[in-house]
Amino acid sequence: MIIAIDGPAGSGKSTTARAVAEQLGYVYVDTGAMYRTVALAFIRNGVSAESPSAGKVRGLLANLRLDMRFGPDGMRIFLDDQDVTGDIRTRQVTEVASRVAAIPQVRERMVQEQRRLAGIQEKERGGVVLEGRDIGTIVFPDADVKVFMDASEEMRARRRYEELQGKDKEKDSNVSFQDVLSDIRARDERDVSRRLSPLRKAEGTIEIDTSNINLHEQVAMVIRAVRERANRPIV
Ligand code: DC
Repeated sequence: MIIAIDGPAGSGKSTTARAVAEQLGYVYVDTGAMYRTVALAFIRNGVSAESPSAGKVRGLLANLRLDMRFGPDGMRIFLDDQDVTGDIRTRQVTEVASRVAAIPQVRERMVQEQRRLAGIQEKERGGVVLEGRDIGTIVFPDADVKVFMDASEEMRARRRYEELQGKDKEKDSNVSFQDVLSDIRARDERDVSRRLSPLRKAEGTIEIDTSNINLHEQVAMVIRAVRERANRPIV
């Protein structure tokens, strides 16, 4: 059972994906975290994410030691054996991530990793939840359940702002709501307009607008779709 959840930043897809995975006994793969970790590798290696040479990208990817591990608190991501789950949530990484996500070799490698990971998880647990931007369109166009989550720009910026306040108090303490709103606008623009795997709705996707519904309802909608799809009792 492959469950693909796509949508823009702050649409509520991570929280929903986590809760759905928990209910079903699956893990949830945060594919955005993978692009963020590649961005961190770019930063640490001093490689610019703005039109880098093919050779530089190749070199960086050849040496990239990326690892996703699943535990009681969800997915943790490692770069060179170091847990960077917290380090990839800064504004700088967020900005660079949306640029590296437009590089063809990076996407190719990530898609390959995501399919491999999902294959292992499906075998081990019977299913997996993946969330990102291109899961239902590119990574798993034949996913059993495809969901596209969205919410108003204001609402999404508000969620990101609160998340930043909570998580990155020291790192990004003087970020204003307006900063977050304009970051989100710029990032949406890049995610939607990039040539390669832009954010768009997959065929046969279930659309959920989370502006006015709560997490419980969002999760119930996805679980209902999973039950309809499964030809055996699932939860
Ligand atoms: O979901 P997020 O904010 O953590 O994602 C970080 C960046 O990675 C964002 O700019 C979109 C990009 N991304 C992508 O291009 N494809 C995915 N499957 C997931 C994320």
